[in-house]
Amino acid sequence: MIDQSTIDRIMDAANIVDVVSEYVTLRRSGTSYKGLCPFHDDKTPSFYVSPSKGVCKCFSCGKGGNAVHFIMEQEQMSYYEALKFLAKKYGIEVEERQLTPAQRQSQSERESLFAVNEWASKYFHETMLNTADGRTVGLAYFRSRGFRDDIIDKFRLGFSLSQYDAMAKEAIRKGYKDEFLLKTGLCYRRDDGSLRDKYWGRVIFPWFSVSGKIVAFGGRVLDSRTKGVNQKYINSPESEIFHKSNELYGIYQAKKSIVKEDRVYMVEGYTDVISMHQCGVENVVANSGTALNEAQIRLLHRFTSNITLLYDGDGAGIHAALRGTDMLLSEGMNVKILLLPDGDDPDSFARKHTADEYRKYIESNQTDFIIFKTNLLLGDAGRDPLKRAQLIKDIVRSISVIPEEIIRSTYIHECSEILGIDELMLVRETEKNRAQEKERIWKEKERERNRLQNKASVLPQTQTTPVTSSENAENTSVSPKKENTIGDITASTSGEVPPANNLPEEESNQTSADNEQIFVQEKANTELVSRQHREEKRFMGLERMIMSLVVKYGEQTIDSEDENGVHIQVTIADYVNSELQKDELKFRSPIYSSMLTDAVEGVRNPDFIASRYFLNNQNMDISTEAVELLSEPYQLSKGQTMPTEQELLSDYIVHLMLDYKFTVIEDELRIISEQLSDSAVYADHERCKDIMQKYIVLSDIQRKLAKRLGDRIVMK
Ligand code: CTP
Ligand code: MN
Repeated sequence: MIDQSTIDRIMDAANIVDVVSEYVTLRRSGTSYKGLCPFHDDKTPSFYVSPSKGVCKCFSCGKGGNAVHFIMEQEQMSYYEALKFLAKKYGIEVEERQLTPAQRQSQSERESLFAVNEWASKYFHETMLNTADGRTVGLAYFRSRGFRDDIIDKFRLGFSLSQYDAMAKEAIRKGYKDEFLLKTGLCYRRDDGSLRDKYWGRVIFPWFSVSGKIVAFGGRVLDSRTKGVNQKYINSPESEIFHKSNELYGIYQAKKSIVKEDRVYMVEGYTDVISMHQCGVENVVANSGTALNEAQIRLLHRFTSNITLLYDGDGAGIHAALRGTDMLLSEGMNVKILLLPDGDDPDSFARKHTADEYRKYIESNQTDFIIFKTNLLLGDAGRDPLKRAQLIKDIVRSISVIPEEIIRSTYIHECSEILGIDELMLVRETEKNRAQEKERIWKEKERERNRLQNKASVLPQTQTTPVTSSENAENTSVSPKKENTIGDITASTSGEVPPANNLPEEESNQTSADNEQIFVQEKANTELVSRQHREEKRFMGLERMIMSLVVKYGEQTIDSEDENGVHIQVTIADYVNSELQKDELKFRSPIYSSMLTDAVEGVRNPDFIASRYFLNNQNMDISTEAVELLSEPYQLSKGQTMPTEQELLSDYIVHLMLDYKFTVIEDELRIISEQLSDSAVYADHERCKDIMQKYIVLSDIQRKLAKRLGDRIVMK
């Protein structure tokens, strides 16, 4: 942990132009600089560096950020590694934050585990190279597999002698404690209390973490020794430093090449990775025979969005290719599949071909995952209508998790051709799946919002009379009803809804009236979700503009009035916050909401500078958001006959807050109209009257707001 004041010093020293120039030739362009983007194959300079904002950004591929983000991307480092890297460059001593005794204990435990692993990996490696048994048994094995010395070094392959406790004894002699030898799983304890090596007699494959630390080992039994061993590989157990589901074998050696090639190849085993490196294909990692999980996908996604899964060309390989792939799609990865020629695995294929041939083979034989799956399942299903229906569902499920709409439509188009079915039907099915998923998320959010609201309503209500006047404080709280509305519409569609039209016969036991009904509900459902989506986007847009001002000018003050009409100076952060509080509003975006709280807290300190605080924030989500907000085009520019910058700022923020409230009311009005069109509400006279009353009050407020908005001249 690095404390904030040290981070601030690093960030102050790390001049963005200076940092970027190490990697990119920059030319001045107005107040900023530009050059060829280092993160994609840039033909014309699209990479901009703004020294005044302290950020850089590629306007073509979108990558960039502050100096730390840039180094993270460029050097493929973690946040802390990048900070330390910059600290070193600018000669700043890094003070680690004071840790609690428990934190110190856990940190030093982690360090001890890393230390013993680091030592052991070198011990195994050197034992293999420098002892008689090591050379004749361990090294001979790797040589027999055709591994070159430079590759053996690169992956730090090693050998554990056949004496049961050779490593344990040496470790103890060197001062490593039993505790850590046991926790890393390098040793186990026998009943008589002695330590025994876990990997004795095996060749060793160390696992490097993405930053190059040894987190685990895999030990392979030699083909010649089968007595007393039944497992080909044994691997380190889970420990404080090794969670198998977060790691990928080979990532450390592959990361640079993954970025350069903008693609990663996924294989199964240690030896596949190593052989491919040896043949010259370095952008490859292994998942050691288990399905990929989210953490691993995110790790890869830091380096590329393109993945090709390599499989043996046998039947088992082909069907394995289908498992666990939807998760890759839903994380926004573009997935391709490559089947190797029958009888080959990635390892054997590498030994028969040069890197060029390997790449060419992949290039011309990899197929897009969805298309691959469609063709494969189609072959399996044959003419069996039930199987075909299942297959359509299956494909649609895969397509519907893809976040990008354009990509979804492309697939739908292609699949409809391959399957020979109506494209519209696929569109509808996909949208239905997505609607169900969105609805699930929406309901979750709504529950959370209600929970917060219930909590808030326990607090005493503020009696100020703000812009939107006091009566709306009660009247705008129609949101519990909102859930009913949504509940009513969706309750009827929440069950498994069979596809409406154009499906093969087996679905035709549905009456067409049923189908019609389902179709109508489905449509309502989809429309509801997409309208909610539009609304959300509108709020996000406004919240974003407001927060952009808070991040840029949060500590600056504007003239305002307190509740008694007395002139006061308030900071932008306080102004936004109090305007929201007056009407018991809260930003819908959790990150903006928490950033605003931070800004309000921050401006109590007279030295606080919002842009600096957010840009240097240790929370990556926040510093990344700050970069985005700082590059919002809404800059205050001072023209000749224009008022002062402060007057402009004041005008703009007041306008935005009015606009925000206007939008809130508009949203409430929309919900009310929806309620009114519900036949159950319509039939209930009392309820109908209540709602009408609310409608009238809210419309009145809306009109007043509109007038105030219209009276203002907004300068953008
Ligand atoms: N694996 C494992 N434990 C096993 C078997 C396999 O952890 N008992 C993992 C290893 O990471 C291995 C991968 O699954 O690399 C793939 O298994 P396999 O194809 O059997 O191993 P290879 O790496 O191909 O090893 P070799 O070529 O030496 O047989
Ligand atoms: Mn193999």
